[in-house]
Amino acid sequence: MDLKGRDFLKLLDFTQEEIAYLVDLAAELKDKKKKGIPVDNLRGKNVALIFEKTSTRTRCAFEVAAHDLGMGTTYLDPAGSQIGKKESIADTARVLAGMFEGIEYRGFGQDIVEELAEHSKVPVWNGLTNEFHPTQMLADLLTIREHFGRLQGIRLTYMGDARYNMGNSLMVTCAKMGMHFTACTTAKYFPDSELVEKCREIAAKSGGSITLTEDVDAGTKNTDVIYTDVWVSMGEPDEVWAERIRDLTPYQVNRKVMENAGEQAIFMHCLPAFHDLKTKIGAQMGERFGITEMEVTDEVFESEQSLVFEEAENRMHTIKAVMYATLC
Ligand code: CP
Ligand code: NVA
Repeated sequence: MDLKGRDFLKLLDFTQEEIAYLVDLAAELKDKKKKGIPVDNLRGKNVALIFEKTSTRTRCAFEVAAHDLGMGTTYLDPAGSQIGKKESIADTARVLAGMFEGIEYRGFGQDIVEELAEHSKVPVWNGLTNEFHPTQMLADLLTIREHFGRLQGIRLTYMGDARYNMGNSLMVTCAKMGMHFTACTTAKYFPDSELVEKCREIAAKSGGSITLTEDVDAGTKNTDVIYTDVWVSMGEPDEVWAERIRDLTPYQVNRKVMENAGEQAIFMHCLPAFHDLKTKIGAQMGERFGITEMEVTDEVFESEQSLVFEEAENRMHTIKAVMYATLC
């Protein structure tokens, strides 16, 4: 498998075999890291990490993975560069490609990361856009495979805002990998119908399936993975909170949902999560709406079925695999 020089912008651009290869490579790199076997054959190379939105996991994963591989990193924060303000994406791509061997970009529209890649002669990696979060997908696949020993045939139910980066990406990922994806939410939050159609075509070949349902009982019954994400994503206006809480509270992941899914089910979340009032925004929402938790209850988040921290660690191993495969 040769992915050298490829961009990593969305999983729609990759075959099932290529995705499986990246997950296998991540597992191998994770194993080597645990055994203390260094993999640093990218020594002397450098990568630029552009973040137009904030991050904990993705930034740390790129930095640690790059350093493990022997590379240097330069972090460009949401306020600290000329990108898009004084300098176009096309010019930025050509400037950075002259100094770095790879460029990570987290920002708003998918069109921006696609444009960056079009003008960059070095690989561009999507660290999250409004539409897709492909590096998160590899971490999720690794986590699911570590737990169940396979991907084919796994049933994954996504609850919450399925129209945004996480819902879209999980639907594409399941379709590619022969998994059964269910978006369980109110119809207003179903993914874009064109993308649903595309994923149904892909799933027809892989043995997977795509289901959209408003029925919590049917949508979560006997599923293997219950997945959710924040109800309001980065970059969305504050005004949408009231509507989201009203619309999505029936789709909160709680004990009843997990019991309906069954003992075999695991809980996953890309994080950060609102499962208590211990954050600034969580506390504000608690005060404004009289709630103590949002998309997932603290009980489920802290339960044995929750694999959220294993999933977070896997961000690093899988991002390392993406850089290794596209640079080596
Ligand atoms: N899951 C994820 O992308 O987390 P960060 O926003 O902290 O990078
Ligand atoms: N949907 C969330 C994902 C965060 C990792 C957001 O875009 O803010």
